[in-house]
Amino acid sequence: MDILSLLVGSILMIGVSGASKVNQTRPFFVFGDSLVDNGNNNFLVTYARADMPPYGIDTPSHRPNGRFSNGLNIPDVISEHLGSEPVLPYLSPEMTDTKLLIGANFASAGIGILNDTGFQFVNVLHMYLQIEYFKEYQQRISYMLGEKQAKEFVNKALVLVSVGGNDFVNNYYLSSYSSRRQQYALPDYVALLISEYRKILSALYDSGVRRAILMGSGPLGCAPAELALHSSNGECANNLQAAAELFEPQLVQMVQDVNVELGAHVFIAANTKLMHHNIITDPQSFGFENSKTACCGQGPYNGIGLCTPWSSLCDDRDKYVFWDAFHPTERASRIIVEQMMNGAYEYMKPMNLTTVLYLDSYM
Ligand SMILES: *[C@@H]1O[C@H](CO)[C@@H](O)[C@H](O)[C@H]1NC(C)=O
Ligand SMILES: *[C@@H]1O[C@H](CO)[C@@H](O)[C@H](O)[C@H]1NC(C)=O
Ligand SMILES: *[C@@H]1O[C@H](CO)[C@@H](O)[C@H](O)[C@H]1NC(C)=O
Repeated sequence: MDILSLLVGSILMIGVSGASKVNQTRPFFVFGDSLVDNGNNNFLVTYARADMPPYGIDTPSHRPNGRFSNGLNIPDVISEHLGSEPVLPYLSPEMTDTKLLIGANFASAGIGILNDTGFQFVNVLHMYLQIEYFKEYQQRISYMLGEKQAKEFVNKALVLVSVGGNDFVNNYYLSSYSSRRQQYALPDYVALLISEYRKILSALYDSGVRRAILMGSGPLGCAPAELALHSSNGECANNLQAAAELFEPQLVQMVQDVNVELGAHVFIAANTKLMHHNIITDPQSFGFENSKTACCGQGPYNGIGLCTPWSSLCDDRDKYVFWDAFHPTERASRIIVEQMMNGAYEYMKPMNLTTVLYLDSYM
């Protein structure tokens, strides 16, 4: 099945039938890691940051802004679909009253499900800290809107969460001697992650979240960083692929259980692993020329170290799936969001974002 033509077809359909029903002012909140951080870490003392060129090279200013991308990232593209401007990082000094009413991004590069994931980056906002900031945010809008309206405002928001990848890359598999690896066999570690993730979902629900898309782990072993370390002929790294293979279905099952418990489709599992996998295995059909080498970096697959002004940089970012050793280009992010919008059940369980926006416009 040609996914792209399916997508294009669906988009045209929404254009005609859906647009008028979608409330353009739906607030948007973002939690998680570097896949969705749009600049919070710029305001923290941490090593996990995207504040030097050529990050942001394809933005209007061509300047870095904290996004781990050449241009827009996944939340930005979702904002486009919501018909709003990108939400600001919550820690930004530009976060004024009017901006607060668009939503907020609490994500922080380097973090994971576990509090200890990302400790090596020194000062990052782990999930519970992000949720604390979300509560502070709600205080601020309560002053503006009144308590009842503020609560309704938060309830009607769309939420995006990206977390889990770093619990493998920057914790369990950080070294052969990582303490988590001494402590747990992989299946037990995955079970721990799922049960801790479940607690995070409860905390999000308790703080007012009623509709959230959860991004899966991605095909961790296929990132240029992992190819550089573990791959001689371009095959994805086994241990991380095995981890993602275990994590993804258990996440889906847990999300399903939580929804049954809550009696509503609050959480939606986006199979970003499968979305990415399709692109990586057949890049040409999506218009990419390169799905293994990062656009910006150094060493094999451009996957060693950070993307810096001294890195080798590709000319045409649109031809690359990976911008740096871990993160997608804007163009790859756009394709992932298209699949979130219009993908079939195997990509978006229990329903895609188009369906969500349509249903919620009657809330
Ligand atoms: C969306 O909802 C807000 C308040 O809930 C309302 O003021 C606004 O007019 C709505 N926008 C659209 C496009 O329906
Ligand atoms: C993580 O930190 C939060 C608060 O900072 C705490 O409530 C929670 O119990 C911690 N989780 C674990 C597994 O230690
Ligand atoms: C996903 O979205 C499209 C609209 O773009 C819709 O036609 C389709 O039925 C949806 N698929 C599922 C499984 O929800």
